[in-house]
Amino acid sequence: MKGIILAGGEGTRLWPVTKATSKQLLAVWDKPMIFYPLSTLLLAGVRDILVVTGPGQAEAFEALLGDGSAFGVSIAYASQPRPEGIAQALLIGRDFLAGEGCALVLGDNLFHGDRLRERLRRAVRRPAGATVFAHPVRDPQRYGVLAFDGDGAPLDIIEKPASPPSNLAVTGFYLYDGTAPDRAAELRPSARGELEITDLNRSYLEDGELAVETLGRGCAWLDTGTPASLLQAAQFVQAIEERQGLKVGCPEETAFQLGLIDADGLAERARAYGSSEYGLYLAHLAREDGGVADPTGGLPVGSESRMSLP
Ligand code: TTP
Repeated sequence: MKGIILAGGEGTRLWPVTKATSKQLLAVWDKPMIFYPLSTLLLAGVRDILVVTGPGQAEAFEALLGDGSAFGVSIAYASQPRPEGIAQALLIGRDFLAGEGCALVLGDNLFHGDRLRERLRRAVRRPAGATVFAHPVRDPQRYGVLAFDGDGAPLDIIEKPASPPSNLAVTGFYLYDGTAPDRAAELRPSARGELEITDLNRSYLEDGELAVETLGRGCAWLDTGTPASLLQAAQFVQAIEERQGLKVGCPEETAFQLGLIDADGLAERARAYGSSEYGLYLAHLAREDGGVADPTGGLPVGSESRMSLP
């Protein structure tokens, strides 16, 4: 299964902050936003990734992520000329996907929680169809919301419903089989001129090929599209990291835990970050194989941390 991180868009709700830079390069506490969805893809078992950026922005992402070898994966780049919808990622990625299925993640979505890896991997094993991940929200009117029949099977997805049929919103992580680019090519732009991801998901739903994985309250799903949600996400990460002495959304650590890079690779990456707190964290992980005190002075990063990936 291949992966796409969609990191274009204009980020208009964050203007002027995102006038001259990509939203997905902004900091969420101690690391760039795109590190979080990248970590999620690694956890899901994806090893071949396409980063779709806004026009002229691929270079900055490449300066940060390179060819992916620092994370033991392959990363390629493509540009979306205009923000014409999330489903357009499947058309831009058609050649890259070459008929394979993919995991699509939005570059501004952060997932963290218990047994996330198991849940992602279980869904990835489904051979056909699509899977969306649902999460309860307080204000479903702002999201694509799932309706279910009496047996709990998905019945419909309604974009920003005035009267939500449930409190389960569709998150920004989607799994698609190899038919997704052809399905995306059939879509017509919506009233706001975008190829809507909800329409792509509905195409699977209508064929009885849409599965829903519900992420419960043990999982956090945050997006970072407004000044308030960006700050909240940063505070969430800060609180967990300072409490546990373990990082959230650290792709080098995830790659190390999964055996994609070895201690030498991790140490090399640590050196690239110098004496930043992030670099020191990686250096300690590499040196002690996860068995030393947290360099930030927090709780020990014990060997159990290697067992407790989200
Ligand atoms: P949105 O939050 O819908 O759009 P945006 O990021 O441009 O922000 P705003 O609404 O403030 O203008 O996008 C969700 C994610 O998907 C985000 O990471 C940007 C990405 N995206 C694209 O890369 N291309 C697109 O055409 C769209 C619609 C979104």
